[in-house]
Amino acid sequence: MSSAASHPAATPEGAHPFPHGHLTGIDGLQPWEIAFLLDEAEQWVALNRAATKHDDRLAGLTQINAFFENSTRTLLSFEIAGKRLGADVVNMHAAQSSVKKGETLLDTAITLNAMRPDIIVMRHGSSGAVQLIADKVDCPVLNAGDGWHEHPTQALLDALTIRRRKGAIAKQRVAICGDILHSRVARSNILALTALGAEVRVVAPPTLMPPAVERLGVTAFTDFDAGLDGCDVVMMLRLQTERMKSGLVPSAREYFALYGLTRERLEKAAPDALVMHPGPMNRGIEIASDIADDLDRSAITEQVEMGVAVRMACLDVLTRKGRGVEGWV
Ligand code: NCD
Repeated sequence: MSSAASHPAATPEGAHPFPHGHLTGIDGLQPWEIAFLLDEAEQWVALNRAATKHDDRLAGLTQINAFFENSTRTLLSFEIAGKRLGADVVNMHAAQSSVKKGETLLDTAITLNAMRPDIIVMRHGSSGAVQLIADKVDCPVLNAGDGWHEHPTQALLDALTIRRRKGAIAKQRVAICGDILHSRVARSNILALTALGAEVRVVAPPTLMPPAVERLGVTAFTDFDAGLDGCDVVMMLRLQTERMKSGLVPSAREYFALYGLTRERLEKAAPDALVMHPGPMNRGIEIASDIADDLDRSAITEQVEMGVAVRMACLDVLTRKGRGVEGWV
């Protein structure tokens, strides 16, 4: 008999699998709720590999993708996810919106809400902005990345990629490497992977290491080789220069010499270590091209594939209550 204590990813008897109105972060989710979303995503991986990729469970619903910050893969992924589920998907780019005319975030929220969307997917440059909107509108809100705070669907797609490639997440030794300080991807991944029982390490230069990061249940390394030792998964992060004050990194060349993932360095990790990167990649700065493109080692394109499936699962689950699905009202 499995118990919640020995299997943190098993839903305890009588518990609702996902009792949340929004997905603003991994923070606050129980391990079994994270595992539930991953399980739900599996059916969409299968559908997305079929010749005809369509399900109409969101037919008649309006999905607004409100992106106040640049995005290529996340926006496209949410758009494809919504369309494959039959939703009417509308993209709002801040550059073309009234935000540029000085409208406040709350006024934008009120405006979007008045159009009666059934779900809002939002990306914003400020940490906490997505929660602010979630508190003001009548429909579910999904965080597609807010400032340095969280990027929950990225962590879910990374977890799904690891689970499929390695068979499990519990006990995997995962090194998240690079610009941890500015990374919402790192934060959401730390929360999700530790919740699911992985041994998580963070590797960064001292200037890019968040203070007291150990409080999140990870081990911190400033020496890349030591941090990689025996790792099953090596997750590289982009140097997020747009969020940096100057002087945190001496030069791109020096950064690559100390913290860039090369084939030689990867030998410190487990022989079958999986290489991951959320994209966009800076080739030759945090990762060498031959590693990024090595299909035996790199799961980078698989991460993108899993992203669509995970987002379909989140869109489906969050709209169940509104659609009156039994057990979700
Ligand atoms: C990440 C993001 O926007 O936080 N990218 C993504 O969503 N795939 C990481 C990054 O920008 O480096």
